[in-house]
Amino acid sequence: MRLFAAAAVVCGLLLPSSVVCAESDLSSTRVQLPNDFTPPQVFKNLNLLRNTNLEKGYVRETVDVVVENVDDKPQREYYLPFPADVFGKIGGLEVRDKKSPEKGRFDAEAIETDSSNDINYYVVQFPDALAPSSQITLRISYSVLSSLSPLPATIHQSEQQYLAYTFSAYALSAYPVDNQKTKLKLPSVNVPDYTTTTGLKSGQDPERQGSVYTYGPYETAKVAPGTQYPVTVRYEFTKPVLTAHLLERDIEVSHWGGNLATEERYWLRNNGSQLEKQFSRLEWTVSTYQGFPTSALRELTFPLKPGSVDPYFTDDIGNVSTSRFRPGKVPNRDGSLELRPRFPIFGGWNYSFRIGWNNDLSLFLRKAIGSSGTYILKVPFIEGPKNPEGIQYEKVVVRVILPEGARNVQWETINGATSNGLPSLSQIHSELNDHKTFMDTLGRTALTLTIENLSDEARSSELLISYDYTLWDGLRKPVTITAGLFTVFVALWFVGSLDVSIKKR
Ligand SMILES: *[C@@H]1O[C@H](CO)[C@@H](O)[C@H](O)[C@H]1NC(C)=O
Ligand SMILES: *[C@@H]1O[C@H](CO)[C@@H](O)[C@H](O)[C@H]1NC(C)=O
Ligand SMILES: *[C@@H]1O[C@H](CO)[C@@H](O)[C@H](O)[C@H]1NC(C)=O
Ligand SMILES: *[C@@H]1O[C@H](CO)[C@@H](O)[C@H](O)[C@H]1NC(C)=O
Repeated sequence: MRLFAAAAVVCGLLLPSSVVCAESDLSSTRVQLPNDFTPPQVFKNLNLLRNTNLEKGYVRETVDVVVENVDDKPQREYYLPFPADVFGKIGGLEVRDKKSPEKGRFDAEAIETDSSNDINYYVVQFPDALAPSSQITLRISYSVLSSLSPLPATIHQSEQQYLAYTFSAYALSAYPVDNQKTKLKLPSVNVPDYTTTTGLKSGQDPERQGSVYTYGPYETAKVAPGTQYPVTVRYEFTKPVLTAHLLERDIEVSHWGGNLATEERYWLRNNGSQLEKQFSRLEWTVSTYQGFPTSALRELTFPLKPGSVDPYFTDDIGNVSTSRFRPGKVPNRDGSLELRPRFPIFGGWNYSFRIGWNNDLSLFLRKAIGSSGTYILKVPFIEGPKNPEGIQYEKVVVRVILPEGARNVQWETINGATSNGLPSLSQIHSELNDHKTFMDTLGRTALTLTIENLSDEARSSELLISYDYTLWDGLRKPVTITAGLFTVFVALWFVGSLDVSIKKR
């Protein structure tokens, strides 16, 4: 709903009169910006520092920018541009006041535009309008998924793998930028190729220090906003580029059993370099034995909450026994489930599997104080493997199956003082539906949340769900079963007496 509202406002109020709204219907989220659209020039960026981190199999960026209102009226709408081909790959974007991050994230909505536009925007709403000549420092953080390409695209099985990343030395901005620089953090010091710029600054550009490459500082006050200067780096990344095409995560609450059951189904792919020749098992065994790094996925470790029990791991063939479960030994220590796929997963290969485990429900469920039947469930939004190379999710579907008869279901995510890796709530699609299982009378209530383009940065995020559930709701199932049996007895009895009466005749 918030997305709809934002789109309507943009359509109705912000844009010059030449703007065409794709549909006059306010329920449409699609706003067509004209090709020459430029955001109102009411701000100036005094200083912009972009930190680009390439240590994982996707890009993470944090941009700190000092913004000044150069208009003569208070302003609160800040436009954040991305090239159209990058826009759809942005994951978990959030914007905060850098000086008081604890105040929470600002509202930031993607404006969907016509696909012919080169630049697409997020619109950030400051909670308080910025007075003329005042400044605010924004911290903008997000991931860029699917933007690292293996180069060369094919390698030999025991060769090192390299990834290439192309970006603009000038950060894209909707407003003039006085000063800026970009710090690139690479996963290793092995960087065979990188662009050296000419004419952007005096002295060497980039400056290198170990695995940190700094492009700039540049004085760009006179450079038109939107000017780009393409730069490419190619660096060693001999680790898998893990991509989950889909993650389905089911969390099932059982008040009767006092149990919280989790099952996750993964469709994984390694998006790294593909094998040049056929896979050699012998060579693999030798290199594994010698402990050489590899671009293949060999093992995954899933940290599990303390007290997790009954883990399982199955793939398309069946039970996989090469998994190891370490329960948290000390109470409150995380357990971990180590999985070894049946074969190493090289670039271009897929692997799908399911894992599951159980937890004591009382550690996740609280009864709301002073209520007769309102419960609050707090569970991780996603868990997933924890590994240095990270993992990117193209689509995540989290389904929380509540007890039969649960009503008045509400949900939210917890936002702390730092990014939780999730996008704004308007980009999480939610749906309530019935989940019928054997002997349910009403069907259990299932809350389904769908997010596209997420990264493992969201591992620490938590989901809160509240629902009403009373003793009667809890009794419904046994009562129904008993009532059902009673009906059967009564029916039998009648049949019996009918039978008798027939015999008598
Ligand atoms: C997620 O990424 C895909 C591929 O880049 C893109 O087509 C899609 O629009 C993105 N989804 C969202 C909600 O941004
Ligand atoms: C992975 O590779 C597939 C197929 O080449 C491509 O469609 C997809 O966008 C890539 N995803 C990522 C996250 O790089
Ligand atoms: C899988 O393993 C579990 C536990 O070891 C066992 O209970 C179950 O029967 C096995 N399932 C199959 C299909 O082999
Ligand atoms: C891997 O999975 C993707 C997405 O499910 C699919 O499009 C592709 O064909 C699969 N590749 C192979 C080699 O099976």
